[in-house]
Amino acid sequence: MVRKDNMNSSELRNKYLEYFVKNGHTRIKSASLIPDNDPTVLFTTAGMHPLVPYLLGEKHPGGNRLTNVQKCVRTGDIDEVGDNSHCTFFEMLGNWSLGDYFKEESIKMSFNFLVNELKIDINTIAVSVFAGDETAPRDMVSATCWKNLGIKEEKIFFLPKKNNWWGPAGVTGPCGPDTEIFIVNEKASCGENCSPACSCGKYLEIWNNVFMEYEKKADGSYVPLSQKNVDTGMGLERTVSILNGNNSVYEIDVFKPVMDRIKELASGGENIRARRVIADHLRTATFMLGDEKGITPSNVDQGYILRRLIRRAVRFARLISIAPEFLPELAKEYIKIYGETYPEIKNNGEKIISELQKEISRFDDTLQKGLVEFEKLKKYIQNNRISGKAAFRLYDTFGFPIEMTIELAEENGITVDKEGYEECFREHQEKSHAGAEQKFKGGLADNSEQTSKLHTATHILLATLKKVLKDNTISQKGSNITAERLRFDFNFERPLTEEEIKDVEKGVNEVINRALPITCEEMSADAALKSGAEGAFAERYGEIVKVYTIGDYSKEICGGPHAGNTKELGKFSISKEQSSSAGVRRIKAILE
Ligand code: ALA
Repeated sequence: MVRKDNMNSSELRNKYLEYFVKNGHTRIKSASLIPDNDPTVLFTTAGMHPLVPYLLGEKHPGGNRLTNVQKCVRTGDIDEVGDNSHCTFFEMLGNWSLGDYFKEESIKMSFNFLVNELKIDINTIAVSVFAGDETAPRDMVSATCWKNLGIKEEKIFFLPKKNNWWGPAGVTGPCGPDTEIFIVNEKASCGENCSPACSCGKYLEIWNNVFMEYEKKADGSYVPLSQKNVDTGMGLERTVSILNGNNSVYEIDVFKPVMDRIKELASGGENIRARRVIADHLRTATFMLGDEKGITPSNVDQGYILRRLIRRAVRFARLISIAPEFLPELAKEYIKIYGETYPEIKNNGEKIISELQKEISRFDDTLQKGLVEFEKLKKYIQNNRISGKAAFRLYDTFGFPIEMTIELAEENGITVDKEGYEECFREHQEKSHAGAEQKFKGGLADNSEQTSKLHTATHILLATLKKVLKDNTISQKGSNITAERLRFDFNFERPLTEEEIKDVEKGVNEVINRALPITCEEMSADAALKSGAEGAFAERYGEIVKVYTIGDYSKEICGGPHAGNTKELGKFSISKEQSSSAGVRRIKAILE
């Protein structure tokens, strides 16, 4: 046990915010789970995410010391959910210095909070610091600071970029070396040479202090930022579990009533992983449905992730004999638990429950049919392997998600040709994008035709800006599309001349007139970047991304939707060119 008294989530939130306010920070609200100005990212994944412009130099109205608790969603680790520490939704406690204090003061504040405020035993703390490489020197400042505070040398680990460098959140942007703080679980040690880089469970990361003094450019180089920032993130759930001596985050106060209820409802034995998956996915779904920018289940973008989470929860519920109709009851628990802290959850309570009920019953129909088909399929397969075509047919004809096919197959000792499935999926996508009338099939119909065209115009605009301004480091810094206009922010040091604006317009219209087809492929974020696709913030997607290609002219990671052919766009014209923030220009444009 690292501490004597218990502390619940609410107490930790309050204590953290009070402490940083006392230390000169302005408390800011948690931003929505749906990021502003960034169509390439589905969800807010860290407290720094909404603060990128300020880390790059823009002035924040709250000053240069900020603190908050941010709602975050990370679906990249969805397969790990159900272990002791992974969740798809979590709360991140954060404090920031925007060009104000730096390493020493940040480390001292974190140390003081952990040891003097939370009363964590100093002997259970270990830290890692950046070992140094060609980009930045070995971080002796942080190491010395930890040592002076009383952390023993054998508990200070120097680790390389892979472990001790955070960001940029996308391909370009603010980043830097970090120092990470761990709680040591001596019982879990895997041997002499274990370090925080090891995943045996001995070192549980609870806090990350990032020293954001570099900006990564599109050509891969790192240049010093005009201001030295600090970006920190502490995982609320993990810290509460540590403070209470729990073995898993699923034992803490915000999960307990839900986990208890799931246990009561389940008659299917000791399936702890399934119980945790249900508790996790229902919590994330509650926050997505209740978000101020409220989303609903659909087949695209955020709505698709939400649909997958709800459907996965239903499947795990069935696995342990819980009737899916009981799941909204669990959301009601979460509304009670979080309603005070996040009023949007309380205010949208009815919507959360009714949307859950609708999606559960829609999926129930799909599932019943799909399971019957799966059983039939089992009898016909060869070599214990489901072909890509058969898996695709289950999805395409019966709406049975590939993840479910794979999970069911695994339970039955069968493999699935996932690559073959993906090939069928791509072929299908290309086909459905070829015909204009089919363009919005699969859920895209929710988005108006005009916004789809403006999305496509934005991609053409970026590629044209690079050409006209002869600058390949130009990348997207923000984007916002309404039915009337597009707004696009990009890095460039000076205003554009009249002539350049005309050339950009001309260039975009030439591409429109070439009647280029727009195609979409799904692939891992990694593969997308390797294929040369543009993609600020790509890695935050975590998993599969969509890559939209416009003829031979542009290739970008994007959530869509897009037009089917550039000729649908009409005439492009720039209505405004202005400054957005230091080193960032903003263009507003319309399609006539
Ligand atoms: N942005 C940093 C993280 O997410 C603090 O770990």
